[in-house]
Amino acid sequence: MKFLITPYFKHNLLLPSCRGLLTALNEYSSTLNIKIDKQLIRWGFSPSQPKDYRPHESAHIKAEAVSDESLYEIIDKYKEIDSIPLDISDHARRAFLDNYTRNLPNTFGKSNMVYLKETPLTENIKTQIQSLINTNKKIEAQTGAFWYPDNGYMSWHTNENHTGFRIYCAYSFKEKSSYFKYRDPETKEIVTCWDDFGWNVRVFKVGRTPKDRLWHCVHSDTDRISIGFSVEE
Ligand SMILES: [Fe+2]
Repeated sequence: MKFLITPYFKHNLLLPSCRGLLTALNEYSSTLNIKIDKQLIRWGFSPSQPKDYRPHESAHIKAEAVSDESLYEIIDKYKEIDSIPLDISDHARRAFLDNYTRNLPNTFGKSNMVYLKETPLTENIKTQIQSLINTNKKIEAQTGAFWYPDNGYMSWHTNENHTGFRIYCAYSFKEKSSYFKYRDPETKEIVTCWDDFGWNVRVFKVGRTPKDRLWHCVHSDTDRISIGFSVEE
């Protein structure tokens, strides 16, 4: 099991024994009707999708959407976002962002993955995550459960509509065949973090200012299940 704490996450972190978290993740992923096994067998999304459904995307579009060049292009046009006052309501902010993002390069907002059915968090997963990040704060919600197929990706984005700490647990079915890539908000360095086989856990903070906005994207050449959790602010 791999842990990555982004450089932005500089709290005193106590890495607990992984076993409890592994058990909790396997338990919880079974509530999503995912079988974490040698092979990904069946998953729990819409029954209207055929059992052998696999989304497709051209390799070219996929590579472009997660490229460093795309990020630079988006950031260049993103400056207008920073003119939005930070104290406006979330609703007003979301409306502005929705409208504004239409003007961004067409690699923005692209993805090739499947939303999995959301299910309530188990007590065990909440406890394990609290222990992982050494907090008593409430683990608020699952912020997305996705299946990335072997040509899956999620293009550069910030999740800034919902700020705070995130814990993303990704199960990769093949060693070093998928990655989480992010731009360090402090150093501006772009870091590619390849997944190990099995569970990979990443903790990061999502902000909405140029100083703490965390640009990130995902790319996969294997089946990859990703389950995200958020912590109350
Ligand atoms: Fe994200």
